Amino acid sequence: MLLYTLVLAHVILALSHGSLAEKMMRPKFKEMKIWSDEKFLSHKVVYDSSDPHLNFSMEVHQELLDVDVHVEVRITNKQDPLYTTTLNTTLNVCRILGFANKSPVGRFVHGFIREFGNIVENCPVAKGSYFINKFWWPEDPTTAILPELEFEIVWQAMHLDASKKRTLVMNDHFSGEFVVQDVNNLKPGIFAMLPKIA
Ligand SMILES: *[C@@H]1O[C@H](CO)[C@@H](O)[C@H](O)[C@H]1NC(C)=O
Ligand SMILES: *[C@@H]1O[C@H](CO)[C@@H](O)[C@H](O)[C@H]1NC(C)=O
Repeated sequence: MLLYTLVLAHVILALSHGSLAEKMMRPKFKEMKIWSDEKFLSHKVVYDSSDPHLNFSMEVHQELLDVDVHVEVRITNKQDPLYTTTLNTTLNVCRILGFANKSPVGRFVHGFIREFGNIVENCPVAKGSYFINKFWWPEDPTTAILPELEFEIVWQAMHLDASKKRTLVMNDHFSGEFVVQDVNNLKPGIFAMLPKIA
């Protein structure tokens, strides 16, 4: 009897998985402005909100010797404008790749992203096509209790030539809000597999 109940419980769980709605915070983009210099590279970013994923594609027309990425993120609570989080940082892609190829954590994260397509592996970045298809981050229902947030993201890439002269090659601006919605296509991923800290 106990066994039967257990089996039944499993069947019910299996059936309900993916059909029960869960509350999740998902981004709603208001604006996506994508710019490439078209000389060093061209790129595109598309987002599908129904089956949430991002596709990124990039065509490198000339070898990129060295690349810096500048990221600015501002997150504001719509109910409480005093609650603001900002990130404003510049990272060197070639150094990150060096790290990703050497450290176990780097290899893990790099391996996770690599599953989604053909990504930049080394510097200098060779001419060719790079893409990330159907990328989505792992979701966790507990984040749905966060207040609704507005976001603004600036993503710029700079090429550095041999004399360290910087040329802007990518300049993307995204803005929108995170809204709590009922979803039935939660995407658990690597974070969901990590042990929870109670
Ligand atoms: C993203 O790429 C996948 C695989 O090529 C494709 O099936 C999907 O329709 C693309 N999504 C968008 C929003 O273009
Ligand atoms: C980010 O930092 C740069 C200089 O370090 C500054 O010019 C820019 O205004 C900052 N952006 C934000 C949103 O604070």
